[in-house]
Amino acid sequence: MDKLALMALAKALVAPGKGILAADESSSTATRRLKSVGVESTAETRRAYRKMLLTTPEIERYISGVILYDETARQNVDHTSFPVYLADRGIVPGIKVDTGAKPLAGYPGEQITEGLDGLRERLAEYARLGCRFAKWRAVIAIGDGLPTPFCLAANARALARYAALCQEQGLVPVVEPEVLMDGDHTIERCEAATLEALRALFAALAEHRVLLEGLLLKPNMVLAGKGCPAQADVKTVAEATLRTLRRAVPGAVPGIVFLSGGQEAELATAHLDAMNRAGAQPWQVSFSFARALQEPALNAWRGVEANVPAAQALFLKRARLNGAARKGEYTVEMEK
Ligand code: 13P
Repeated sequence: MDKLALMALAKALVAPGKGILAADESSSTATRRLKSVGVESTAETRRAYRKMLLTTPEIERYISGVILYDETARQNVDHTSFPVYLADRGIVPGIKVDTGAKPLAGYPGEQITEGLDGLRERLAEYARLGCRFAKWRAVIAIGDGLPTPFCLAANARALARYAALCQEQGLVPVVEPEVLMDGDHTIERCEAATLEALRALFAALAEHRVLLEGLLLKPNMVLAGKGCPAQADVKTVAEATLRTLRRAVPGAVPGIVFLSGGQEAELATAHLDAMNRAGAQPWQVSFSFARALQEPALNAWRGVEANVPAAQALFLKRARLNGAARKGEYTVEMEK
């Protein structure tokens, strides 16, 4: 493991004014997204969609890295593979390496993420394809008696084993414990679950001797459940999220790259902006959004070649506005 290289790459991925695009939807998730705009999902339409996003001019000003899915990492844009194409533009290619969240046996309503078997060899192969960082997502549900400490510990151990393997293979791990927005729980319950999940995660990372300076944390923001009638305002979300992170995330971690989790694109940007206006934090406060960066572009594209420029303009706009939010310089007027 080249510790200095891992540390330098983790830092570069959270460079000021920049963040990560998650374009690593599994084929089944990509199928759902394409279907929502009336596009049949095939390897070719998934490639065309990713090509539309990733060939957008000027995104390298705001996008430091892109997380790809296995299929995309092996596809080409013109005659160049996507990882090589991105690297040539100065964007770091990354790869989703978990194989999905499955029901946790014995714990109804909870999930455990799979993908550790053979991971060392898969990481080595992704590195050969040009990928330099990786992502693993754990899913945590809030519900009656949930999450259980067992579910948090089991997912934290899997995340930590993945992270240790990544660093061994020279890839920066993005560790993602996602507390879901599904449900009608209050923001206070989300805060408590997020704090517990992060404490379990950092205990496991320490046990697995993971280099904190050589990883990025990808958490949820602290929000009320989608079905909760009492939705907190932007300032309250920013305060609750930062309070939780400061309690649980060591200052050695170079950056926090939030997932958007199903928030409206503009709201996710406003939350990120409010956190960056709250003053200096021990770590960079950045983004690794999928839906909040892609949705306006996906809706404009609809699988039609003639729509590509309009879709790319919307994607560039979200990248630019989240880049502004990285510096606490976003305003709603910029949406016009
Ligand atoms: P969303 O921003 O759509 O939540 O996706 C981020 C991600 O990569 C989830 O694993």
